[in-house]
This record gives sequence, structure tokens and C-alpha cells, in this order.
Amino acid sequence: MKLVAATGNLHKLKEIRSILTGFEILSEREAGFTGSVEETENTFLGNALLKARAVAKATGMSAIADDSGLCVDALGGAPGVFSARYSGGGDADNRALLLQNLEGCESRTAHFCCAVALVLADGRVFTAEGRTYGEILHEERGTNGFGYDPLFFSYDLKKTFAEADEEEKNAVSHRGRALRALEEQL
Ligand code: IMP
Repeated sequence: MKLVAATGNLHKLKEIRSILTGFEILSEREAGFTGSVEETENTFLGNALLKARAVAKATGMSAIADDSGLCVDALGGAPGVFSARYSGGGDADNRALLLQNLEGCESRTAHFCCAVALVLADGRVFTAEGRTYGEILHEERGTNGFGYDPLFFSYDLKKTFAEADEEEKNAVSHRGRALRALEEQL
């Protein structure tokens, strides 16, 4: 089955491709989608549905979207759905702001959450969610992955996601769990 991945994030696209191996996953560009979808919902699932619906409508193809983020307990679940836009800058600025906001906090527990939505060309919709738990370190470790990976110490892997290789991360990640749960429904 051919799907368009409704994301402009090449790291996510790579992970989606290696997790959903039974599907041919096109990038937005390969499917001829050049627009951008504003994430106006306040839940991961709401935003995933928004993105998948918009890209399915524009391309006439089945589309899959992921909306994800980091939820830190001591920060009341922030940055949450604002993870990508936390500092107004890029990934490195987001990580720096997170460390700054956690200064003096004793609890550093956190989880990543991922909601996935698949909108088929015939209009049927499938959704799933996945989570993965860990802690925010005081300094970055590792260079793999993207986003908050160098700061996220995974309880499953006993190392940061940026120290893990792609296969290790996908086996326990929020995205891996969400996509496998979605696959089971199909
Ligand atoms: P969005 O789903 O495009 O709104 O953005 C998700 C944001 O959450 C990313 O830009 C990262 O900052 C963060 N994020 C989501 N998944 C991961 C992950 O697997 N590793 C590290 N950061 C992530």
C-alpha cells in the first residue's frame, strides 16, 4: 500500500519508513504536496488528524501523519504539543530552554507521546497513540536522532535516544509504539 507521510520533518519520515516496512511511504514532496498545515489543535491526536486529512485531500492519496512531543512532569506536561516551537528557534535552542526551565527541579521525569492518524483515500480513518518514558538529563549525550533525543534518558534502553541506533530507538519509541499499534488495526 502506498502512503504519503504528512510531515516536513525528514527525521520523522526516516523513522516512519523504517518502522512501517510493509508500506511504500512517499514524502510530501514526492506526492506533489507543497503546502504547510498549521497545527491549531491542542492535542497530539487533533493535530495528527488535521495534517493527515489536509494531505489526503490535497493529494487524493492515503496519508499518514504523526504529531508528537515531549511532556515533562515538573513542567506540567510542557512543552507538549508546543515541543517543536518551544523556544521559537531550532532543536538546539529548544533543548537549551528545556534545561534552563528545569534548573533547580528535583523531578526530571518525562515521556514522549506520539499520535498517528491514517486517512485512507476512501475516507476511512485509523488512529493510534504511543508513549515512552524516561528522564531529562542535565547535559546532552549522544549525537543520533533529533529534537530532544540527546537529553532524553530512556528507561527502556538505559541510555539516551541520541546514544541509541535507529533500530534500538524504534523498538521502544513513542513513534514505534504508535505505528505498530496502528498497523495492528489494519
Ligand atoms: P510536531 O509533531 O511536528 O509538532 O513536532 C514534534 C516535536 O517534538 C519535534 O520537533 C521534536 O522537538 C519533538 N519530538 C517528537 N518526537 C521526537 C523524537 O523522537 N525525538 C526527539 N524529539 C522529538
